[in-house]
Amino acid sequence: MHEDICNLAKDKHVAFIIIPFHKQQTVDGEMQVANAAFRSINQNVLANAPCSVGILVDRGLTGSTHLGASNQVSHQVAVLFFGGADDREALSYAWRMSEHPGISLTVMRFIAGNNAIDPTRVETSAEPNSPTTLTVVTDSDRDKQLDENYIKEFRARTVNDSIIYKEKVVNNGEDTMAAIRSIDNTLYDLFIVGRGQGMVSPLTAGLTDWSECPELGAIGDLLASSDFAATMSVLVVQQYLGNGHGDGLEMPNNPIQHHEQYSNFSSPRPRAQALFYE
Ligand SMILES: *[C@@H]1O[C@H](CO)[C@@H](O)[C@H](O)[C@H]1NC(C)=O
Repeated sequence: MHEDICNLAKDKHVAFIIIPFHKQQTVDGEMQVANAAFRSINQNVLANAPCSVGILVDRGLTGSTHLGASNQVSHQVAVLFFGGADDREALSYAWRMSEHPGISLTVMRFIAGNNAIDPTRVETSAEPNSPTTLTVVTDSDRDKQLDENYIKEFRARTVNDSIIYKEKVVNNGEDTMAAIRSIDNTLYDLFIVGRGQGMVSPLTAGLTDWSECPELGAIGDLLASSDFAATMSVLVVQQYLGNGHGDGLEMPNNPIQHHEQYSNFSSPRPRAQALFYE
């Protein structure tokens, strides 16, 4: 089935596939496996998709219709941004969503405090200046620069919009967990987070130790777990990084080009479409 999904996505030049999480919330709030087959399909889609992928943990987002004033669909969406390619993709998609008049967007950016220990800075190699150590640091610095540029552009471009932007300083995984638990989640219908693949961050350190579903990443897994008593849905985003064959839809690293690519959803050009299956 994942081959059908991926081939269809490729044929139609889809930019983003949304797949349902294999667990669903029961009436008493537990997350229960609804369709075990979805799990391996989802893992295979994540591994083989020719575009970005979102796993939707639906806790009533699609079932209910929230009508605001003027009888328009109304949703409160929050992005939890820690940094990295997947988080930039998550923000890009949420930004695109926020252009709908019924969507209110809050962006919460988590920033490392002075006491955060950057794992990429810890010299583990016997030779501190070996090429391996150097590469890790460079990649991480490059990612941080991309994050800064992205956030800067995003804020500049949305300065007149009603998007709420907040920053939260945390030093470690425990701080992050406490900060997330302190969010009044009755305010939001949907959290959008990155899967955080390849990210080594002090802000999420240790959070994956008890991870039930690594396909959701550290933050997604936390938000989707049974003990996180909640009614909000979660969309976990993985950015397409390309397979080196150039046969997928390469997403530009320039945040604005990228955003515009998503903004073509409603244009006649078939460049970017979303594909849903259920
Ligand atoms: C925001 O509003 C100000 C004043 O109307 C305008 O000068 C500026 O260009 C706007 N910025 C953006 C990014 O739309």
